[in-house]
Amino acid sequence: MKIDKNVENDGVIFMSIKGEDKGDGGALAKEPAGGSDCSGSEGDVTILAIESSCDETAAAVVRNGREVLSNIISSQIALHTVYGGVVPEIASRKHVEKINGCIRAALSEAGVTLEDIDVVAVTYGPGLVGALLVGVSAAKAISFAQNKPLIGVHHIEGHISANFIENKDLEPPFVCLVVSGGHSHLVVVKDYGEYEIIGQTRDDAAGEAFDKVARAIGLGYPGGPKIDAAAKEGNPDAFTFPQAKISDAEYDFSFSGLKSAVLNIINQAKMQGEELDQADVAASFQKAVVEVLVGHAIKACKEYGYDKLAIAGGVASNTALRTLMEKECAANGIKFFRPSPVLCTDNAAMIGAAAYYEYKKGVRFDLDMNAVPNLPLGDRERRFHAGKA
Ligand code: KG4
Ligand code: ZN
Repeated sequence: MKIDKNVENDGVIFMSIKGEDKGDGGALAKEPAGGSDCSGSEGDVTILAIESSCDETAAAVVRNGREVLSNIISSQIALHTVYGGVVPEIASRKHVEKINGCIRAALSEAGVTLEDIDVVAVTYGPGLVGALLVGVSAAKAISFAQNKPLIGVHHIEGHISANFIENKDLEPPFVCLVVSGGHSHLVVVKDYGEYEIIGQTRDDAAGEAFDKVARAIGLGYPGGPKIDAAAKEGNPDAFTFPQAKISDAEYDFSFSGLKSAVLNIINQAKMQGEELDQADVAASFQKAVVEVLVGHAIKACKEYGYDKLAIAGGVASNTALRTLMEKECAANGIKFFRPSPVLCTDNAAMIGAAAYYEYKKGVRFDLDMNAVPNLPLGDRERRFHAGKA
């Protein structure tokens, strides 16, 4: 997988992701990567997908759900770093500035025009309402002007569907661990677009815990990638942090106790005038999170009787999580699937993948579709009546 990067004058990073990664383990893609032959054939469904739920403006062209013809991401992360987190107003304003350029680039890199597009898909929730509205408005405008069907996609369903892109043979049912900045869900993907949530976080999401702990130990924002990098230099057994078990819901997660334990160690060290080894804290914290995530996911596969496990969301790009999950899956006879790291974090290709299966089921949204910041996962009733929710 090749990523062309360009830092623009305002600090926004413009990325074009090309090809597919077949060397990152997991199940290998059987078909050739998209991008070279754009002519398509009759019966093909070519989707223009848009994502703007947080701090990435993204557009992609995806054919038949699994072939990515173009994948453009405009990342604002550098703009928010000085504030220690995403500032919603800045995010919305930048989305407005960047969205048309991203869509234009996605079409041109795919070698298609708006006339060639069969469906316009967009993330309509969950996320920051002002940010979501930019993508939703753009998608509605194109759908109306071109008279093309419109499909709203749940952001997390997009993350799960990222697994379909590089794993052409992955089909439901399977178990998926979804770990992002706002979600920690253990889900059984029963069919395309059909989800049963079997576990979720009681407090912080996994990514949120990474971000908060990174801030506390002085690594700054964005916390996940910084802890991942720092942990490589640290001793994961330097500290023993608690791994919460919830007695009445064995697949639920809780990370707030772990976060407090890290804060206690920091305060203790301060009071005793000792200097903490950042890398040791990062590695020990990461180990505690990863062991819980992997433990729950493997247990779910075994108890529910599934032999396929996928991971999704920003935290799924974590090196330690990928390594331990791979090892445990191999030890338990479970086939492990994971997107390349750049498809784990927010992108529009995953939205195009999810939208394809919705399209095949006959899902269509009206032009009164609205952004739904707290959209629940798998709520089909709500998705069919998005504008009226
Ligand atoms: O899926 P995502 O890009 O956005 C949301 O939908 O939330 O996930 C962002 C989250 C952030 O909390 C970030 O710190 C975390 O994913 N993250 C990571 C890594 N890369 C991103 N966490 C751990 N290790 C990483 N390598
Ligand atoms: Zn996300």
